[in-house]
Parts: sequence; structure tokens; C-alpha cells
Amino acid sequence: MPDRGTFAAPVTLVSHSPDETRDIARRVARLLRPGDVVLLHGDLGAGKTTFAQGLGAALGVTDFVQSPTFTLVNDYAAAVNPVGIAVVHHLDLYRLAGDGDLDSIGYDAYLAPDDGVSLVEWPERAPGRLPARGLLVTFDFVADGRSIAVASIAADELADQVAESLRDIPQDDEIKTNAS
Ligand SMILES: Nc1ncnc2c1ncn2[C@@H]1O[C@H](COP(=O)(O)OP(=O)(O)O)[C@@H](O)[C@H]1O
Ligand SMILES: [Mg+2]
Repeated sequence: MPDRGTFAAPVTLVSHSPDETRDIARRVARLLRPGDVVLLHGDLGAGKTTFAQGLGAALGVTDFVQSPTFTLVNDYAAAVNPVGIAVVHHLDLYRLAGDGDLDSIGYDAYLAPDDGVSLVEWPERAPGRLPARGLLVTFDFVADGRSIAVASIAADELADQVAESLRDIPQDDEIKTNAS
């Protein structure tokens, strides 16, 4: 992974439970626009998939599965949401066999998804291939749960939004992304 110091000031939150991790993901979901990529970085069991599920749910995905084990990638239709994210691409590069695999799934297109957003677990398995814009979310084990650090990949308006929107928001804040 690129040095975290290169990213605009990350916001670090502590999650005490899988539900809290999903809540944080819902808050992150409302910052996203079509074309954004979310890199999910952390050890096995740190909460990457839990976060991906929460993010997908906030965008209207109802049938999220644990991990795209054999295919590296699953594509989910998002429900109608106001920003026009139609598809959530979930990639898990844990079992990546090399650059050939990346090319066979068309990885570079997932780094600039024109129809929605991409969520990438184990992005460090694809060294040197980074999206132009999006978020790096870093998960660490801490005594009372998990720390979740959210940083923008570029010093763009998303970076400003991370700083503004993720600080000091009550944990039970609901995000309504679906038209209703
Ligand atoms: N605060 C927390 N956030 C997320 N998961 C947690 C937390 N506390 C405990 N867990 C547990 O840790 C595991 C995380 O699994 P998962 O999200 O699949 O991790 P990863 O995709 O990083 O391997 C689950 O079994 C979950 O119940
Ligand atoms: Mg996982």
C-alpha cells in the first residue's frame, strides 16, 4: 500500500461491533459518486467484508455475499439512489495468482467504474495499480474492537468531505440513499 502519510488527513473511528462497522460504512457510502473506488486494507478478520456489506446495503444491494471466492469479483445491482450509482463491484484479491489474473478480470476498468463504485479487498495484491480517486480505508485490531481510518486517495473534494462528514457524527445517524 502507498504510505498513508501521502493521503489527506485520515479520519480514524473506532468500531466496537460488526454493526458499528456497517454504520460507519453507511456514512462513507453517502460520500461516493459513480467512478469512485474504495480500497479496503487490513488483515484477515479485520472487518473489510463487513464494511463492504454495509456500504452495499446503503446503496441498495440486498443480496451481498461474503466474498467472491472463486471469481475475484462480484457485481451487484444497486437500488435507485440519487447519485446514480447503478452497480457495486466487490473485488477480493486475496487469492490473486498474479498480474495475469488482474488482466483477465479487466482490473483497470474496475479502478475507474463508469457505472458505479468498486470496493477492493486486499488491494496491496495489485501493487502499483491505484485508482485516480476514491478512498483508502484501513482496518486495525484494537483492544475494544477495530480502528477504521478513512483517507482520500487524492487531495480532491472527496478529501474535504471525509474531513467534514465523518467527524463528530452520531453513531446512529441514518443515511437514506434510496428514493422513497
Ligand atoms: N468491530 C468489528 N467490526 C467488524 N467485524 C468485527 C468487529 N468485531 C468483531 N468482528 C468480527 O470479525 C470478523 C470480520 O470478518 P470480515 O468482515 O469477513 O473480515 P475481512 O473481510 O477483513 O477478512 C467477523 O467475524 C465479525 O463478526
Ligand atoms: Mg473479506
